[in-house]
Amino acid sequence: MKFIIDTDPGTDDAVAILIALAHFSDEELLALTTVAGNVKVDVGTRNALRILEHANRNNIPVYKGESTPLNRDLLTAEWVHGTDGLNGVGFPEPSKSEETLGAVDYITQLLKDSEEKITICVLGPMTNIGKVLSQNPELSEKIEQIIFMGGGAGFGNHTPVAEFNILVDPEAAKIVLNSGAKLVMMGLDVTHQAISTKERLNKILETDTVTGEHLVGLMGSLAELDIVKEKFPDGTPVHDAFVTAYLVDNSLTKGELTNVEVEVDSELTLGQTVVDTNH
Ligand code: RIB
Ligand code: CA
Repeated sequence: MKFIIDTDPGTDDAVAILIALAHFSDEELLALTTVAGNVKVDVGTRNALRILEHANRNNIPVYKGESTPLNRDLLTAEWVHGTDGLNGVGFPEPSKSEETLGAVDYITQLLKDSEEKITICVLGPMTNIGKVLSQNPELSEKIEQIIFMGGGAGFGNHTPVAEFNILVDPEAAKIVLNSGAKLVMMGLDVTHQAISTKERLNKILETDTVTGEHLVGLMGSLAELDIVKEKFPDGTPVHDAFVTAYLVDNSLTKGELTNVEVEVDSELTLGQTVVDTNH
């Protein structure tokens, strides 16, 4: 299985990436591609490099992606992830830079050249993937599946109805949702099951590893937010981790085939994913 992770790291992105690094080789995890979302794309790109540096996996290339949504201004979530994007958790300085090729060109070339279909994990706004598919719609045939953290059946987080990743770039989401590629949607209704309870964090600390400390730092920092504590007294949902954990073990959750549309016009409900659970 060959896959890439498209990400806006981001504390929960970092957890998701570390899960993938623990379970997959450099021959399987082909690259990290970054996109503007939680933080500006330069910050996210540096964080992707820092995570690989920490994990001693510098053979995995990082490709910097789009710095703004397809046709909107960027909305970030620094209030959640900190201006450094990792809430100050002590990942090392990177010892290499990102590739010179941009993420959209890399993903386009990869899909065109690859013998086998590629799985794409999307952990942030869908700007990069939307741009690839709007330029070359036929490349949806070369995608095994897109597993994405985004949207929600029935509720949002950044607004009452919109989840952050989709809200940042609803037009890109619309392109991806209508692309014909196989989609596995890990909406908030799914990711709210992945809670960083104290018991789970202690188990991770008991590994007595630096990675364990960083993981607890990343998830603990999210759990400390007042708005999170109020709603999730037992711990924070670790949204993006669900995507790569599912790649490791797809029995973690089950879903149903439904139609999903996204609101791109209404001011009130912009970014809402309308999930047809009534079929
Ligand atoms: O709404 C949660 C999503 O937005 C997660 O991917 C988080 O990293 C942020 O990007
Ligand atoms: Ca993310």
